[in-house]
Amino acid sequence: MGRKVNIRHISEGDWDGIVALEASIYIESELSEEREALESRAHASPDTCFVLDCEQQIVGYSLALPYPTFHYPDLTRVEETTFHSRNLHLHDLAVAESFRGRGLAKRLIRHLTATARSKTYERMSLVSVGGSDTFWSANGFEAHHEVSLPKSYGTNAVYMSKTVSLLRPDGASRW
Ligand SMILES: CC(C)(COP(=O)(O)OP(=O)(O)OC[C@H]1O[C@@H](n2cnc3c(N)ncnc32)[C@H](O)[C@@H]1OP(=O)(O)O)[C@@H](O)C(=O)NCCC(=O)NCCS
Repeated sequence: MGRKVNIRHISEGDWDGIVALEASIYIESELSEEREALESRAHASPDTCFVLDCEQQIVGYSLALPYPTFHYPDLTRVEETTFHSRNLHLHDLAVAESFRGRGLAKRLIRHLTATARSKTYERMSLVSVGGSDTFWSANGFEAHHEVSLPKSYGTNAVYMSKTVSLLRPDGASRW
């Protein structure tokens, strides 16, 4: 039987695991951020940031914070402002390689969308990197190719967004 994976809010003791996972995924593509920058994203909005915890091992995370529509964090800087926007920006979502393909990212996205809805956010946005835009389209996000992005996000980055309030007729979340 597979080991149980829980979604929970980030504790201060999780940061070594988050930083190590982030580096293992993004260093090669030069998208990795400094620890202080990553921590500052979560400290700006702790209620909308989560880890995937498998028996005290961090096997995934999502960092989301309010950001004005069509704006996004500067990867080289810490967050200095907490925005009061109705748009929740999913700055980063990652799953450890050995835990991929089991629906964990989809679970995190559903959890985050439900959280966004409960906090009355109207939209969610993100910058897809590394050619992951098809993954995000499959999870309800639409591309805004007109939004230009800095080179620091990589050559194939795409700004994407979705409305939070999409509900199925039975009231359940669509994504
Ligand atoms: C993208 C990522 C979060 C998906 O995690 P996951 O837990 O494997 O995803 P799920 O199991 O929920 O979904 C798997 C589905 O997504 C697809 N998928 C996974 N990664 C993808 C990618 N980079 N591009 C396109 N599709 C992708 C799989 O083919 C699978 O499709 P299927 O359901 O049709 O079989 C994971 O691959 C990852 O952490 N990648 C590195 C970090 C990253 O790129 N994050 C996004 C930054 S914007």
